[in-house]
Amino acid sequence: MNCGKRETELIVALDFVKLQDALDFVETAGDSVTWYKIGSQLFCSAGPAAVAALKARGKKVFLDLKFYDIPNTVASAVAEAVKMGADMVNVHASGGREMMMAAVKAAADNSPAGKRPLLIAVTVLTSMDAATLTEVTNRKDAYTPSVHVPYLAKLAKESGMDGVVASAHEIDLIRSACGGDFVLVIPGIRPADSSVDDQKRIMTPREAAAKGADFIVVGRPVLKARNPAEAARAIKAEMVS
Ligand code: C5P
Repeated sequence: MNCGKRETELIVALDFVKLQDALDFVETAGDSVTWYKIGSQLFCSAGPAAVAALKARGKKVFLDLKFYDIPNTVASAVAEAVKMGADMVNVHASGGREMMMAAVKAAADNSPAGKRPLLIAVTVLTSMDAATLTEVTNRKDAYTPSVHVPYLAKLAKESGMDGVVASAHEIDLIRSACGGDFVLVIPGIRPADSSVDDQKRIMTPREAAAKGADFIVVGRPVLKARNPAEAARAIKAEMVS
């Protein structure tokens, strides 16, 4: 539905250790899935070959390595990710304005004109709650993701990033702070009939799409489905109904 705006895209988190298991899954899912997320788990075992294998199969790749380092190092890492053919790359917004600007410049400098991948900033990890955030920021008062997430999203936007990763519960706050064109990538998604697993702040695909997510990231509900292609199609159908 997505408020009459862009359609919400499904990204399947390819959370496998062995590249062959990941590719068997991609084969089984067929054309029901276009976008895949390669995280640190698969990347540490298979490296750039994982990206190349997905690109060879005509898939879009979100390289979810959440870079967080000095600007020069992040810029070099982003340049390599772009050369690998990633369609979406992320860094931590907490790395700061200069780091994010260096990432955007490196992506632009290493992409053909008009083909720069989406640059996405991680705001506050969905595994962190107010208590963890208060602890890591050394606050005396309680500090909540509902304050820090839109703050970091705005910083990311000012730094030239295309969008952020955040929980579905923060979509309205980010839209108010950053406007309708900012790209929202939303994990922590669970279809109504599936297991919650270790996710805490979840929403269904339909709810997240209705709130205006541009991309939803789904792992286990599709990876563990008896028929992954059917599960992916059901999620996509739910988002446009
Ligand atoms: O299996 P599940 O749907 O919970 O997988 C969600 C995926 O999204 C995992 O790859 C996880 O690492 C990732 N992710 C997340 N929360 C974030 C950022 C990424 O769940 N804040």
